[in-house]
Order: sequence, then structure tokens, then C-alpha cells
Amino acid sequence: MSILDTLAGSASPGTLYGIGVGPGDARYLTLRAAGLVRAVDVLAYFAKTGSPGNARRVVTPLVDSGRTEQRFEYPVTDEVPADSAEYQQKIGAFYRETAGTLASLLRQGRSVGLLAEGDPFFYGSFMHMWRRLVSDFPVEVVPGVTGMSGCWTRANTPMTWGDDTLAVLPGTLGEAALVDRLRLADAAVIMKVGRNLAKVRRAVEAAGLLSRAVYVERGTMADERIVPLADCGATGAYFAMVLIPGEGRRL
Ligand SMILES: C[S@@+](CC[C@H](N)C(=O)[O-])C[C@H]1O[C@@H](n2cnc3c(N)ncnc32)[C@H](O)[C@@H]1O
Repeated sequence: MSILDTLAGSASPGTLYGIGVGPGDARYLTLRAAGLVRAVDVLAYFAKTGSPGNARRVVTPLVDSGRTEQRFEYPVTDEVPADSAEYQQKIGAFYRETAGTLASLLRQGRSVGLLAEGDPFFYGSFMHMWRRLVSDFPVEVVPGVTGMSGCWTRANTPMTWGDDTLAVLPGTLGEAALVDRLRLADAAVIMKVGRNLAKVRRAVEAAGLLSRAVYVERGTMADERIVPLADCGATGAYFAMVLIPGEGRRL
């Protein structure tokens, strides 16, 4: 690509890759994800203020020094309720600005790999970029091993047997909604536990499922913690989930 092409805007745009990096242990990256992490022109990632970024940390063993990186720092995470006007205004503005930065890199003809924890299309911030950019730029999404898959594997817990249904619930739901949905499912995964741990625990107990529930924090990572939900204490980590295995047909 020549500088004239770039100035005239006539160069082919770069491709945006949404790269699922899996649950935490770098060995769970797919071959496609690992290849792209090494090959893209710009390695981009989201991070909480003061943190290296979970997805970025996962790929550390694959990143040589001197790579071009683009960090996007969330203005808020879980300090403010996600349904508050403040959260929506700040995050909305942040996503618009981030999409603008990505668009400008892609217009320069550069390939950008935006890292996503687990799978990009499963509760991923990447989706907010995908929706803003997919009609104007080439986009490839690389699936990843989901966090829940990594967690139930490390907890050595088969989840769904025979005709079991599986509910995936955000811990941010209200307590009554959690209880209702837990009562309808045979097996359940409760994500985004963090500050919601006490409420989640009460809901699991009210649904009569506490004896089966397992708490998994930072599953597959070096500082992983796996304990029965009944024994896990009062404070949860952001990177934690609760697993309730089904008890369906066993042959
Ligand atoms: C914004 S969602 C991202 C989900 C991710 N895209 C996936 O495919 O798993 C973040 C939530 O995923 C869950 N999570 C993801 N990976 C995890 C892990 N390794 N251990 C525990 N929880 C995890 C936690 O509940 C966390 O609050």
C-alpha cells in the first residue's frame, strides 16, 4: 500500500478479527486464534483501569516485545449498575469512540485483532464493535472455548445429561428472576457473579439447589479457586461463575 493510496483512502481496508482467547490458560487457544495473535498488525484489547486486561494477559506467552498494541480502557465496569443512566451514557460514548479508533486503523489498511475472553459472541464487549463495524469493514470472528466450558472442565463436573435443559443466567438479574429461572432449568450456569454473590447464593438456596452448586473463580488460570457455593464466603471475584450440574438420564 502506498502513502498516496492511504491519503486518497483508496487502499483496501484491513480486516477486524474478533479473537476468542478461551477461558484463561493459553493452551486452550485455538490454532486459528494463536496464529492471528502472532500475525495481526495491531493487537487490541479492553481492560479495566489499573488492570493489564484479562484477554491480554491470556495471550502474553504468544506476544513478542515490540508489537503494536492498542489498549481500550473502560471508563466504568461494575462500580455502577449496568441499567443506570450514568453507566449507559459512559459506556455508550466509550464504545462509539473505540469503534472510531478501530475504524481509523482499518482504513489505513491495517489488520486488527481485538481480543475477547472466552468466545467473542458470548457476552463479549467485542459484539459492540462488531455491530458498529461489520457493514463497513471485513470482519472475521474466531470462536473460543467459553469460560463456562473451561470452568466445568476444571471443576470436573459433567453438566447436561440426556434431556437436561441448561440455563445461562447473568448474576446481575434480580433475585426473584434468578429463582424463577433456576426453578425451570435442570442445569444452570450463573455468570457475572462478582458483587452479586450474596444475592446469587440466596437465589440458589431458595430454588433448592445449593447442595449441587459449585463456585469457580478464574477457572483454568494460575490462581483458580473451586469450592462448593455453600462454602465460598461472602465476596466473589468478577471472574467467577456458579455451576449447577443437571441430574438427567445416566445410562
Ligand atoms: C463479560 S463475560 C465474558 C464471557 C466470555 N465471552 C465467555 O465466553 O466466557 C464475563 C464473565 O464470564 C465469566 N467467566 C469467563 N471466563 C471465566 C473463567 N475463566 N473463570 C470464571 N468465570 C469466567 C465470569 O462470570 C465473568 O463475570
